Amino acid sequence: MHSDQIVRTFTEYFEERGHRRITGSTLLPPPGDPVLFTTSGMHPLTPYLEGRPHPLGRRLVNVQRCLRTTDLDEVGDRTHLTVFEMLGSWSLGDYEGPSSLDWGFGLLTEGFGIDPGLLHATVFGGDDRTGPDTSSLELWQERGVPVELTVEDNWWSNGPTGPCGPDSEIFLWTGDTPPESTPTGDDRWVEVWNHVMMRHRRLDDGSLVPLPQRNVDTGLGLERLASLLQGRTSVFECDVFDPWRRRVPPLWQLDEPSLRLVCDHLRSAVVVIGDGVRPANTGRGYVLRRLVRRVLTVLRRDDPRRGLGDLPDELIRHTLDRFRQDVGQDVVRGVLLDEERRFGRLLERGRRILARPRFHGPLGEDDLHYLHDTHGLPRELVLSLRPE
Ligand code: SER
Repeated sequence: MHSDQIVRTFTEYFEERGHRRITGSTLLPPPGDPVLFTTSGMHPLTPYLEGRPHPLGRRLVNVQRCLRTTDLDEVGDRTHLTVFEMLGSWSLGDYEGPSSLDWGFGLLTEGFGIDPGLLHATVFGGDDRTGPDTSSLELWQERGVPVELTVEDNWWSNGPTGPCGPDSEIFLWTGDTPPESTPTGDDRWVEVWNHVMMRHRRLDDGSLVPLPQRNVDTGLGLERLASLLQGRTSVFECDVFDPWRRRVPPLWQLDEPSLRLVCDHLRSAVVVIGDGVRPANTGRGYVLRRLVRRVLTVLRRDDPRRGLGDLPDELIRHTLDRFRQDVGQDVVRGVLLDEERRFGRLLERGRRILARPRFHGPLGEDDLHYLHDTHGLPRELVLSLRPE
């Protein structure tokens, strides 16, 4: 099933159940949100989860682009991307968790044709403040889906304060053998869909108070589901990455982990630039800078002549179109090339500084801190110039 068809199937399924489709927002969260980027579909909906009536009603569905820097170091494994699309559904004080889970089960098994025997759920097992989520547990028991109870893994929050609640995650078995173990015990169980019973708010002092309404917030990563439904072993092999897989390897010969990193970070950088962010030393701009510099470091490790000037227009265009961004590809290319030049100058400076006698021996932690704090040379860059 092509990713566009997955989006259609998802949204139509919820529309048939009274949900109105809303337009996803940019990667920039609304003012006052504690995070730099939209990391999940609920961010733009925070005021409505907190009780403000939504103009389109109490049942919503959408596709939202998200960026997760917390997962940056996991990028390159088979399930994590920096920028991805999240399919989401919401009950704003309308139906409760079990209805959402039941529809989720129906959509996965009937809509997407997944064998119910390959599903496993996790449910919040309760802690000293909040009891176990027995209604989710009972729903899964009625559907014959095995359940694992956890505490931390089944509590979802948007940040240290704000709306939060217990969640129930649905996992799909990806092993070659019949399913075994549980989601926390075997990473062949891959999480596909999270349903959050968002009915609490965490205050500054850490205490929990009930939200004015009992919501459900669900999120399902599109590229991850697409790769599973398409029988691929990683998100980088789903149809969304087809043009990248076709165009990048002939251009730059890279091992698989480096290829994944380059495709992920460049695609993410294009989307971030498309949403108006520019490289900087702090905040969102720093995230963009890190993405571009990591790509350049990987590309130049094997061949210093490699550069972003060779990036095919098709990949920039395909990404901007995919994320429905109305920005010229020349603008994106201009930002990338500017950053590349700036990075080139930094590298030259780095080489000059590292040539000083003080740095001739092996570099210790103190040296790395000094090079960063005094000369603005990031650890990654120093290590790429002086692999120990
Ligand atoms: N907010 C939850 C998540 O991001 C469900 O959408 O996983």
